Amino acid sequence: MKAMLWILTLVEAAVAGGSPADSNYTQGINTTVSVVVNGFVKYQQMIGGGCSGAFGVACDQFGRYGLSPANQDIVTETLFSENIGGLSVLRNDIGSNGSSTDGSIFSILGTCPSTPDGPFDYTWDGNDTCQVQLSKTALKYNPDLFIYADAWSAPGCMKNVGTDDDGGLICGVRGSYGNDNEGSQSESSASSQCNNTDWRQAYADYLVQYVKYYQQEGVNISMLGAYNEPDFNPVTYASMESDGYQAKDFLEVLYPTAKAAFPDIKVSCCDATGARQERNILYELSQAGGENLFDVATWHNYQSNPERPFNTAGQPNIMTEWADGTGSWNAYWDVTGQLAEGFQWALYMHNAFVNSDTSGYTHWWCSQQTTGDNALVRLQNDEYFVAARLWAFAGYFRFARPGSIRVDAQSSVENVYVSAFVNTNGSVAMPVVNAAHFAYDMTVNLSGTNATTAKAYLTDNEHNVTMVETYPVRGGSFSANVEPRAMKTFFLQ
Ligand SMILES: *[C@@H]1O[C@H](CO)[C@@H](O)[C@H](O)[C@H]1NC(C)=O
Ligand SMILES: *[C@@H]1O[C@H](CO)[C@@H](O)[C@H](O)[C@H]1NC(C)=O
Ligand SMILES: *[C@@H]1O[C@H](CO)[C@@H](O)[C@H](O)[C@H]1NC(C)=O
Ligand SMILES: *[C@@H]1O[C@H](CO)[C@@H](O)[C@H](O)[C@H]1NC(C)=O
Ligand SMILES: *[C@@H]1O[C@H](CO)[C@@H](O)[C@H](O)[C@H]1NC(C)=O
Ligand SMILES: *[C@@H]1O[C@H](CO)[C@@H](O)[C@H](O)[C@H]1NC(C)=O
Ligand SMILES: *[C@@H]1O[C@H](CO)[C@@H](O)[C@H](O)[C@H]1NC(C)=O
Ligand SMILES: *[C@@H]1O[C@H](CO)[C@@H](O)[C@H](O)[C@H]1NC(C)=O
Ligand SMILES: *[C@@H]1O[C@H](CO)[C@@H](O)[C@H](O)[C@H]1NC(C)=O
Ligand SMILES: *[C@@H]1O[C@H](CO)[C@@H](O)[C@H](O)[C@H]1NC(C)=O
Repeated sequence: MKAMLWILTLVEAAVAGGSPADSNYTQGINTTVSVVVNGFVKYQQMIGGGCSGAFGVACDQFGRYGLSPANQDIVTETLFSENIGGLSVLRNDIGSNGSSTDGSIFSILGTCPSTPDGPFDYTWDGNDTCQVQLSKTALKYNPDLFIYADAWSAPGCMKNVGTDDDGGLICGVRGSYGNDNEGSQSESSASSQCNNTDWRQAYADYLVQYVKYYQQEGVNISMLGAYNEPDFNPVTYASMESDGYQAKDFLEVLYPTAKAAFPDIKVSCCDATGARQERNILYELSQAGGENLFDVATWHNYQSNPERPFNTAGQPNIMTEWADGTGSWNAYWDVTGQLAEGFQWALYMHNAFVNSDTSGYTHWWCSQQTTGDNALVRLQNDEYFVAARLWAFAGYFRFARPGSIRVDAQSSVENVYVSAFVNTNGSVAMPVVNAAHFAYDMTVNLSGTNATTAKAYLTDNEHNVTMVETYPVRGGSFSANVEPRAMKTFFLQ
């Protein structure tokens, strides 16, 4: 209760501090900003925003702690509907451990053969630790869902450490046999359990088999990944290491295997812990001759930020996992300035899209029964609470739909961040984030669009992507007010 009052006081202070009604606040400051959007200068194609039900957390959303079927549906709709959260990417976790301990995902390979020649006794329970249900309900609200199936590790029997946790390498990649592991992070590679056998094809077949099981369920997997944070060994959960050279040794097997089974499927590389760590892997992969053995560069935002374009051979990149990690639940837009607030996420996305040509942005969990801050929706038995982070995603992705192209947008001031995206039907989404503590009067000049109206959707401490105004666009130009510490998305048609 005490904490609540403190928060309310902060909300009032934040609002009062930035209020344009305080006429002295901006004395001597130029409060006009001019924005130029050039639809003829095109950058990356967008894939969308997303989240994950990995590690068994999908089951939280499907009743494990009492969320009723009606609310299960509402939570899915809130996340994935084009008119609410606007998400269109779902990252599923391919399990690697046959024994179902808490937090580990059911694996399709319960017991391993003693040699890579098999036979492989795959099994499927049609459930995949509630990820099938999450996929199917998300598809109901977004039929064009982009599902990313990603493994944290190969099954233990295919690795030089013999278990799916504790890092280690796929048997068959350079360094995995224990005698040539210079530079490897894997302590146990010195005593390799690979016995000089090569399990790369077995692991590739196993990943493809997982995609086939989803196909049987009527669910198409759009992208397949073999790694999660291969630059990091957390020891205690499913994990597997790889540098870019070792990734080359495996992707040269996985890439043709995946394409032979599913010609349209995308193969990712490599979900590193940070943007810099990902660039490092991509550089090594390219140096080893593997720059064309993946379709999408995937990275997490934990250990470093995107600051410049990725060093791919033209492939797009997606931020595939990030959340606060250790903080307590924070549902606010802009109250404490804490890194997990919605307003901050609007800026993280701006920076990734504009500075690193990022095509998609995936929060860690979708929903979770918790008091922590790792999900977009917090569940408490049959109640649910939405973090303002979801409104930041919605401010981009309800309007810049999958397939849209980012185009050039320039702002005359540093504290007004503008990006622009042209949808496949020619409509334009222009998210504007005003980081100033006062309102700006904005004039926008547009080229490369025939839009005649601009509808404005406001997100701040009091609004969640709320339509507030419609402006006429005349001669490729319009003027609008942008509120302090707010995201205002203009949708032009
Ligand atoms: C506010 O503005 C008025 C009129 O310009 C001026 O007289 C007054 O001194 C200002 N107050 C402060 C605290 O700056
Ligand atoms: C204020 O900023 C706008 C846009 O950057 C600029 O066009 C205008 O000349 C500036 N006005 C003054 C008085 O500096
Ligand atoms: C899926 O499996 C989980 C246990 O992992 C179980 O709680 C849930 O009821 C199952 N869902 C369905 C639809 O069978
Ligand atoms: C499965 O997980 C358990 C618990 O983490 C671990 O002890 C065991 O070694 C794992 N099995 C394999 C084959 O990786
Ligand atoms: C290597 O041999 C050991 C001992 O027989 C066995 O436990 C292990 O599973 C083998 N590893 C592989 C990758 O075949
Ligand atoms: C899955 O992909 C196949 C092949 O591209 C396509 O024919 C089918 O319509 C897709 N199914 C769904 C449910 O999207
Ligand atoms: C906006 O969303 C928050 C949760 O993020 C909710 O608490 C609040 O009531 C919503 N406000 C409006 C005006 O819908
Ligand atoms: C164009 O596409 C956008 C994004 O999908 C959609 O919201 C809008 O309604 C479409 N406009 C028309 C005129 O169909
Ligand atoms: C915007 O367009 C108007 C009218 O064509 C023009 O006068 C103005 O210079 C343009 N502003 C910028 C910043 O391009
Ligand atoms: C705008 O209209 C012109 C004339 O109809 C057309 O040629 C052009 O493709 C349109 N531009 C866009 C971006 O839709």
